[in-house]
Amino acid sequence: MISVKSLKDCKGKYVLVRTDFNVPIVNGKILDATRIRVALPTIALLQKKGARVVIISHIGRDPKESLKPVYSALKKHIPVRFVDDIVGVKVADALEDMKNGDVLMLENLRSNPGEKEGDKAFARILASYGDAYVNEAFPVSHRADASIVGVAKLLPSYAGLQFEREVKELSRVLKPKRPFLFILGGGKAETKIPLLKKYLAEADSVFIGGILANNFFKAEGFEVGKSKTDENLPNLKAMIKNQKLIIPDMVVVSGKEKKAKTVPLASVTKEDSILDIGLPAIEALAPVIAKAKLILWNGPMGYYEGGYTKATEALLKLLANAKAETIIGGGDTSVLVEKKKLADKFSFVSTGGGATLEFLSKGTLPGITALK
Ligand code: 3PG
Repeated sequence: MISVKSLKDCKGKYVLVRTDFNVPIVNGKILDATRIRVALPTIALLQKKGARVVIISHIGRDPKESLKPVYSALKKHIPVRFVDDIVGVKVADALEDMKNGDVLMLENLRSNPGEKEGDKAFARILASYGDAYVNEAFPVSHRADASIVGVAKLLPSYAGLQFEREVKELSRVLKPKRPFLFILGGGKAETKIPLLKKYLAEADSVFIGGILANNFFKAEGFEVGKSKTDENLPNLKAMIKNQKLIIPDMVVVSGKEKKAKTVPLASVTKEDSILDIGLPAIEALAPVIAKAKLILWNGPMGYYEGGYTKATEALLKLLANAKAETIIGGGDTSVLVEKKKLADKFSFVSTGGGATLEFLSKGTLPGITALK
């Protein structure tokens, strides 16, 4: 992987920069602009080198979604032109018009089916827009999409500054300082079980929360009532026996009376839904946090979208004051860090969701391999 810093002689050259501007947007309003902000230093560096910067990105999963709201946000930081297409005459004309240091942004890559199909012909079209390629899209680099893998193979390819940071910082867990505490929450247990297995072997303690934990409560034989759990999971018994695994023993439930209350896990009834981890269980983790030298946390502790954020916020506060190196990843957790303006309290906050999990599990991604 070669850094964009070593990209030489790019005066007047077209540099294709793949960003991940897949930011949360509600009613045209960007809720978290971190992914835009972190791409700016790479763009600025290329402008300074005299390159003509062509930004390509995806947004959402609906091919009709537009990057226009992102363009509006981006132009508050840098002068940029937007073309509402990804192939064709409008793109060709805009490229032709570019001068050294100019920035052009094209429409949603996923508006072309070739992007998700990893189509070679589409990759060739994209590659024809640049003399060099920079991947500044770590959060989507677990996808073998045309703009991530295909283009990287066709042009001299480099890693963007944030991309490099993601790889460097997340790699700390491959040779961790000890004691190493791993905290995993959120849903989609089937994708997280392999990660849990790996870190039960490699970390010194593992704490679980979120829907993921509900599956373990059930496997331990506790009543989970109407709580969300996942289907078709492997047998969790062996993991439960592992001394390193810390399973919370207090939960927040809402049952017949509707009003949420904190109860011991053993008191959950058939009518209850578990919505969050109880604060006493988070407080009980404080001594483990105090001893740890490295802490990695991914995924909220409770039903975050429903407003059950107390355990997640309490944990965030504990980690913000911890002496350990702290690495935080995953969509909801990172958005909360931004909202609470706590980013500088952690060693690193990853911008990735699925990509971060896959990197932590495999130690590489298709987008990293393609840069080699
Ligand atoms: C993300 O937000 O995790 C990335 O942009 C990848 O998006 P995807 O899951 O739609 O491929």
